[in-house]
Amino acid sequence: MVSFPQLRLRRLRRTEVLRNLVRETEVRIENLIYPLFIEEGRNIKREIDAMPGIYRFSPDALAEEIKEVTRLGIPGVLLFGIPAHKDEKGSSGIDPEGIISQAIKTIKDIAPKLLVITDVCLCEYTSHGHCGVIRNDCVDNDQTLPLLAKMALAHAAAGADMVAPSDMMDGRVRVIRDALDDKGFTEIPIMSYAAKYNSAFYGPFREAAGSAPQFGNRHSYQMDPANVREALREVEQDIAEGADIVMVKPALAYLDVIRSVRDTFTHPIAAYNVSGEYSMVKSAAQQGWLDERRTVMEILTSIRRAGADIVITYHAKEVAGWLSEKE
Ligand code: PBG
Repeated sequence: MVSFPQLRLRRLRRTEVLRNLVRETEVRIENLIYPLFIEEGRNIKREIDAMPGIYRFSPDALAEEIKEVTRLGIPGVLLFGIPAHKDEKGSSGIDPEGIISQAIKTIKDIAPKLLVITDVCLCEYTSHGHCGVIRNDCVDNDQTLPLLAKMALAHAAAGADMVAPSDMMDGRVRVIRDALDDKGFTEIPIMSYAAKYNSAFYGPFREAAGSAPQFGNRHSYQMDPANVREALREVEQDIAEGADIVMVKPALAYLDVIRSVRDTFTHPIAAYNVSGEYSMVKSAAQQGWLDERRTVMEILTSIRRAGADIVITYHAKEVAGWLSEKE
């Protein structure tokens, strides 16, 4: 057995060429998805206070952003809708002419090849801000399912390339798959938020989407941050119901969960580098306390190293710029 002084691990770190040669993990623009907030209205481009550099756009004001995203080589976007009207059942979310349908059509006109993924969840559309319909002060699982299926169908009919249910109701992947297949959308994949935790890191998003629960919290449907075996059961369930891609969310505080899912299943994994993770880095960078570029690349590298294929990140545009500079 070779040991020091014959063995010197520093040998392969000596030059950039050597380091590049043996690098195990890569962050590629082809693996990144950029979230977009779409607000009902006209001529809106409004920066989100808690997420510097991230905006809400009305569909008519999207063109420039979409052109930039495609110019940068970002392969896909994930759409979140902010409707003008909310009610108990989130009706604006299942309206076939709703805000997301309008946005999909606009985007497809400008960039037909850009992958358009839609968030399927009621919380942005309900007056109470919960991810399902309320019965007896509780989010009712089974009554929520048909609404989620209708929402997914509305998105697919408008031209979405993939749907991403984020509600955490049991059984929703199956009802969505059945509904899509029934209407001939057999080629539309489902990326399920399989292991979605009840996380404080969603704070800035709730400001961005206006989706904070008006009473109570999401403890009864989102996962307990303490559990990893349960995450594997969630993933197993979603795969059994027909999920094509499974997601772990958030990403940074859940790298072990990503790794466990990677070691247990063969499906592609997406990880959501969520709003709070973005804003932490942004605010520290703005203070001059962190080197933004190095910090972001290190975080994304760690998410990929943990086993994620796809990373959903608000940093996607900046990363695209940095990666192209290198060449
Ligand atoms: C729910 C949803 C949430 C996020 C994505 N989809 C918020 C929540 O569950 O409260 C959070 C994303 C982020 O924080 O960036 N539709």
